Amino acid sequence: TERTLSIIKPDATNRNLTGKINAKFEDAGLRIVAQKRIKLSMEQAGKFYEVHKERPFYGELCEFMASAPVVVQVLEGDNAIAKNREVMGATNPANAEPGTIRKEFALSVGENSVHGSDAPETAAQEIAFFFSGLELVG
Ligand code: GTP
Ligand code: MG
Repeated sequence: TERTLSIIKPDATNRNLTGKINAKFEDAGLRIVAQKRIKLSMEQAGKFYEVHKERPFYGELCEFMASAPVVVQVLEGDNAIAKNREVMGATNPANAEPGTIRKEFALSVGENSVHGSDAPETAAQEIAFFFSGLELVG
């Protein structure tokens, strides 16, 4: 079993889609073992997305992530990282498979409804960024 960090992004919380997105995770066999709704500051968004700081969309990405509340969560299950990315679909919703979160809900490549960790090392880092061990209830 494995854990991954998921974020339901501002475009989705704005449209009241948290429950529908969580149903997709649970239907795929992912268990939500920690979850909280928070509003990121620009500084926190910038730190979380530091790996992208040289990319042209970095400023826009951070402003978007700090624009409204997000739901940060830890998903657990067999191959949780890959499974979550499969349920999310491609970064650009135009390329996402039918039935995926991004195909159904994302507005654009930037406002794409969800984030998911991309590897075990980043998952561990990203979980620790938002949660203490005491908040993870398997
Ligand atoms: P994450 O799970 O959010 O990390 O998505 P990803 O791994 O599918 O994409 P990537 O790590 O390449 O990019 C991180 C995030 O930056 C994406 O989810 C988008 O929100 C945003 N992003 C990526 N490409 C673009 C772009 O061309 N324009 C804008 N505005 N945002 C982008
Ligand atoms: Mg990524």
